[in-house]
Amino acid sequence: MGGQGLSLSELVVERGGRSVLDGLTLSVPAGHIYALLGGNGAGKSTALFATLGLLPVVSGQVLVDGKDPASQPDAARASVAYLPETVALYEHLTARENVDYFLSLAGQSCTKAQIEEAFAQVRLNLAAQDQRLGAFSKGMRQKTAIALALLRQTPVLLLDEPTTGLDPQATQDFHALLLDLKASDVAILMVTHDLLGAVDVADTIGLIIDGKLASEWQAESANPRFDLQALYGAFTQARVGHAAA
Ligand SMILES: Nc1ncnc2c1ncn2[C@@H]1O[C@H](COP(=O)(O)OP(=O)(O)O)[C@@H](O)[C@H]1O
Ligand SMILES: [Mg+2]
Repeated sequence: MGGQGLSLSELVVERGGRSVLDGLTLSVPAGHIYALLGGNGAGKSTALFATLGLLPVVSGQVLVDGKDPASQPDAARASVAYLPETVALYEHLTARENVDYFLSLAGQSCTKAQIEEAFAQVRLNLAAQDQRLGAFSKGMRQKTAIALALLRQTPVLLLDEPTTGLDPQATQDFHALLLDLKASDVAILMVTHDLLGAVDVADTIGLIIDGKLASEWQAESANPRFDLQALYGAFTQARVGHAAA
């Protein structure tokens, strides 16, 4: 995979008549995990929608593996997989049928062996693969969606609050999977509320306040990877500031 990663430059996006993103700049190289933190309404999901080309950009630019969703929508969309905050899969279809169906929507077909390999990679056992989604836990739905994202083999992956509602074991499994994807050179942008989780897996942590990047921290090569106290301070201050506004 590899490629040129993801970059947002001076991005301005309006929703409901006001700037929700107000000059957001960040970049995620291939093989890098970027955790974007911020309070409710800070503009995190909006940043992902703009990256997917689902919202018009007032000014600035998005480049998904070098492609601008505004001018090259098809090429940009083919380069990015997205795990929404609420995984939208079909309840009455099995995990395998869901994956088959959504791959065909993306214009792709995979062999049975490839699909089973992806399920094995996300540790969704063989019996579960043929069960209907209706019976799945949140963690199992997440695994199904990640298997789909893996099969898409896109150079860029967007995740919106992927660990919200997962138990600690499922969160740990999920992070292990992100590290596998990082090793295969995917550029990963993850929106999260989970500061401790971000500290575990991210190479860069960014804090977004009112549609702008307020601070950014790079992981150190040695432990501790991040100054947790500084991060915690900035993060709680952002929330307090926002609540007071
Ligand atoms: N569909 C919408 N129409 C108008 N404004 C919206 C819409 N969705 C979100 N917003 C506004 O955009 C801002 C950022 O929302 P969002 O990107 O969802 O924040 P986050 O994901 O950081 O919680 C919020 O203030 C919200 O009110
Ligand atoms: Mg959101």
